[in-house]
Amino acid sequence: MKIERADRMKGVEMSRIRATLTKCNEMKRAGIDLAMFTVGQPDFDTPQYIKDACEASIEAGHTAYAETPGSLELRTAIAKKLKRDNNLDYDPSEISVTTGAAQAAFLGMMTWLNPGDEIIIPNPSYNIYSTIPLIAGATVKTYELLEENNFQIDLEQMKSLITDKTKMIVLLTPNNPIGSILEKDNLEGLAEILKDTDIIVLCDEVYERLTYGEPAVSFGSLPGMKERTITMNGFSKAFSMTGWRLGYFAAPKEMVDVMNVLSFYMTACGVTFTQDAAVVALEEEDGSLEKMRSEFEKRRNYIVAEINKTKHFSALMPKGAFYVFMNIKKTGMTSGEFTDYMLDNYRCSFIPGDVFGSAGEGFVRLSYASSMENLERLVVALNDLDAKLG
Ligand SMILES: Cc1ncc(COP(=O)(O)O)c(C=O)c1O
Repeated sequence: MKIERADRMKGVEMSRIRATLTKCNEMKRAGIDLAMFTVGQPDFDTPQYIKDACEASIEAGHTAYAETPGSLELRTAIAKKLKRDNNLDYDPSEISVTTGAAQAAFLGMMTWLNPGDEIIIPNPSYNIYSTIPLIAGATVKTYELLEENNFQIDLEQMKSLITDKTKMIVLLTPNNPIGSILEKDNLEGLAEILKDTDIIVLCDEVYERLTYGEPAVSFGSLPGMKERTITMNGFSKAFSMTGWRLGYFAAPKEMVDVMNVLSFYMTACGVTFTQDAAVVALEEEDGSLEKMRSEFEKRRNYIVAEINKTKHFSALMPKGAFYVFMNIKKTGMTSGEFTDYMLDNYRCSFIPGDVFGSAGEGFVRLSYASSMENLERLVVALNDLDAKLG
C-alpha cells in the first residue's frame, strides 16, 4: 500500500522549534542537566485565581459544547479589554475565541489566501507564518527587520514588495523572536501605503501585555485600518496559560463570520470551562500578571547587560515578549553550529536564528522565560566561551 500526502502537505515539515524541544526533552529524560532557553512559555504556573475559576466552572457543570465563536461572556470581556488596553472598538460579534492564537493564525491565513496570492511576512518571524501559507498554496515574500534598522519596517522595501497579487501582510508586535515593537510612526507609514489597497493585515499581538516601557500600538487602532485588520491575541503568554489553548481574534463582522465557518469545521468549538476561567482571568486580575511581567523585565535587564559585556556576543535591548535575539556573528559560527556547540559543551539550549528566516542567521533566540539560576549559568558559559575565542 502506498500512502501519498495531499499536495498541500508536500514540503510542509514539523517546525524546527518543536523538533528542538523534543530533542531537549529526550536529553532531560536521559538525566542530562540542561539549562533551556528554548521554550516560548513562561516558567510560572497559571495564577491560582484562574485555576480556581476553571475548577468552579467544571463543578457547576459547564461541560457541554460551547458556541463556535466562543461564549458571549468571554467575547464581551475581550471587547472590554481591547477597548481599555488597545484602543480598539469591537462588538462581541466581531470577536471569535480560538484554540490558542495558533488557530487564529491558521484561520486568518487559510480563510483568505488562494493559491498564487502573495503574503508578506516579517523576516525574522515566528515560523508558523512562513509555513501555513504554503498549505494554502500562497507565495511567501518577506520584509526584513534588521538590527541596524532598530528592527523597524523599511517602508521603501515594503512598497517594493507589494504587487497586485498581495493579499495579506503579517505584523508581529512585539515580535517573536526579536522582542521588538513596531513604533507608532512606522505603523503609520505602513497605514499610508495600504490605505488605497485591499490588503488584509494580520496583526499578531500575543505578547502585547509583556512590554517593558512603551506599550505596543495596535495596527487596527490607526485611523482607517480597522476594516482591513485581523487582530490576534491570546492567554498563553501574559497569563501563563500555554497549555489551556486559548486565543482569539477580532476583525470586521463580515470577516469573522467567514472565519467562524472554517473554525467550526476544524474544532466545532473551544473548551467551555476554560472560557469561563478566561473571563475571570480578564476581569479579576489579582496582581500576579504584573509580578510575572516585572520578573521577566528583571531577567531581561540582567541577561542583556551581561551579554553586552562580552567581546563576541551582543544584543539590542528587547522591548517586549521574553526573547533576546543574541548576535553571535563574531564567533565565526553559524547559528546552527553555535546552538549545537552550546548544547554539547555547556548543556545550554537555544533556537538557531535562521529557523525564523534568513535575517536570523548569525543570531540565536534566547528565551528568558527561564529561571535566574539558569541565566546565571548561561552567563558563566558565555564568559567561558568568550575567553576561549580570545
Ligand atoms: C508570535 C506568536 N504568535 C502566536 C503564538 C501561538 O500562541 P498560542 O499558544 O496562543 O497558540 C506564539 C507562540 O509561541 C507566538 O510566539
